[in-house]
Amino acid sequence: MVKVLFVCLGNICRSPTAEGVFRKLVLEHRLEQQMEIDSAGTHAYHIGEAPDERAQAACARRGIDISRLRGRRAVASDIEKFDYVLAMDRENYENLLEICPPGLESRIRLFMEFATSRAEQEVPDPYFGGAGGFDRVLDMIEDAAQGLLEDIRRARLRA
Ligand code: 4NP
Repeated sequence: MVKVLFVCLGNICRSPTAEGVFRKLVLEHRLEQQMEIDSAGTHAYHIGEAPDERAQAACARRGIDISRLRGRRAVASDIEKFDYVLAMDRENYENLLEICPPGLESRIRLFMEFATSRAEQEVPDPYFGGAGGFDRVLDMIEDAAQGLLEDIRRARLRA
């Protein structure tokens, strides 16, 4: 079992989008029995809430339903449980390091490290921007999700 957690600030825009995109990709590759996928936020603003309507709409346009996800906050035990704890931006990364149990720091990575066709290291926060930001976020997340699945297959599933 390979366990992947996507983390952003609110867990209502970027990380539920990444969870939905990656879940779809894993299903397409019939690897769902070998993966556990979840998302969380570093802050408590939106606990229990459904994803932002704009994120839901952008995902729906690509055939991804994230409407049933609910916001939750990342906790230290998440880093004990998940093999990959993937931060959407550097602020999320720093906030995760602050709650990280000693010795597990290497599980925390920037998600965009896995992108194969772009140089950006952070997924920009679309919350205060226009609707177009959500499509840009999806493009970036789709790229990194592909790279992540390749990395997991190479490093963990063929072992
Ligand atoms: P997310 O976006 O971190 O991608 O879920 C945000 C959601 C809410 C807020 C900021 C970013 N907020 O300030 O409430």
